[in-house]
Amino acid sequence: MSDLHGDDIARFKHVIQIAEKWAKLHNFDALQPPILEHAEVFLRSIGEATDVVSKEIYSFADRNEQSLALRPEFTAGVVRALLSNGLHNHALPLKFFSHGPLFRYERPQKGRRRQFHQINYEIFHKRDDNLLLLEILALAQDFLHDLGISDKIKLHLNSLGNAQSRENFVTELKSYLEKYKSELSDESQIRLEKNPVRILDSKSPMDQEIVANGPKLHDFFDEESRKKFENVQQMLKNLQIDFTIDKNLVRGLDYYSDVIFEFITDALGAQNAVLAGGCYNGLVAKMSEGKADLRAVGFAGGIERMIELMISNFEAPQVMKIGLLPIGNDEIYATHAMKLMRTLQKNHFIIEIFSEKNLKKQLQAANKFDMTFAIIFGESELQAQKYMVKNFNDGTQNEVNFGNLVSFLKKIH
Ligand code: HAM
Repeated sequence: MSDLHGDDIARFKHVIQIAEKWAKLHNFDALQPPILEHAEVFLRSIGEATDVVSKEIYSFADRNEQSLALRPEFTAGVVRALLSNGLHNHALPLKFFSHGPLFRYERPQKGRRRQFHQINYEIFHKRDDNLLLLEILALAQDFLHDLGISDKIKLHLNSLGNAQSRENFVTELKSYLEKYKSELSDESQIRLEKNPVRILDSKSPMDQEIVANGPKLHDFFDEESRKKFENVQQMLKNLQIDFTIDKNLVRGLDYYSDVIFEFITDALGAQNAVLAGGCYNGLVAKMSEGKADLRAVGFAGGIERMIELMISNFEAPQVMKIGLLPIGNDEIYATHAMKLMRTLQKNHFIIEIFSEKNLKKQLQAANKFDMTFAIIFGESELQAQKYMVKNFNDGTQNEVNFGNLVSFLKKIH
């Protein structure tokens, strides 16, 4: 878990600002689920056999012996919130935007932290067409473009087929892989029992070779799954959104069905997914035990990964800062400085007071702190009711009447 500070804070805020802008343009409502939930919210939805649940979740018993977990993602919490607040009875589609910290006990490396942050978009609807999926993909694309990093990122697309096609495939895949069990990597041998589809995603060359000769998910698609996937591809072409079909793309969370996607970069080493998501049509029904049945589609983006990609092309906007330099230590100057500070802050100026022991040191400090102006006042200024205003940008110095200071500064602002 790392600290966010310095320029990264400006980048972090910028990501959220742009993400909120696109949420608003697509008519999303803000939703902030709590950071802690009953562990159960995540276990069944994400899947007990996934890495996220079996190895990475931070869970513990509270004082009342209830099992709680720090949220490892937003989706399950958003669905839980939708059901607990009866929002599924509202007009559809429902669109929710969230952002905040998440926690996974992973091996930290570049682009992978145990506490990280996401922006997250989810749409819930009754219809099962591709329109809302396309809306999500267009939103993701426009957001990345607005952030100035879209040229470093490519959209990868796959379909898992609907639940029935997937089940048929998994049965076949499992019986094929059983024959090669002893040749699979240790991790894949465990996955074979619990979640064989994850073996498709294995980085081991031997696993990849075995998988390459095995049954193909797409051969098991029924008519509906095939048409849906073809239709998305055609619509993306119509919209001139570039994509690559990656038939080995599988997501690390169990709730997906049909089309899934990742926006991938090759600038971050092994941690290449910047945004990721897809359709998850069975999750609302599963979590509500059949009481609500909504289709859903969404994605999340890792803010730390976006920040990393922004380093070369984002500079925090310069803001005008004003230093107050009282010459003299007694109460009169301190009181004057405080009053002036509050007046200027009400006019939205950023203020820092410099009380080093002489004017030379005060000016040096104000310069170091990147002040645009120094407002200097000592005995003679207070008597004449004028400030000495030094502009660090052009080196000029002006006498300004007390009453004219705000308008003088605003003119230059
Ligand atoms: P995910 O693929 O687990 O999907 O995470 C989405 C994004 O979060 C990743 O592409 C990555 O940018 C970022 N991320 C994940 N783990 C870490 C980490 N340890 N450190 C830094 N960044 C990380 C989900 O979370 C789904 N809930 C997405 C979704 C929303 N699907 C439908 N709706």
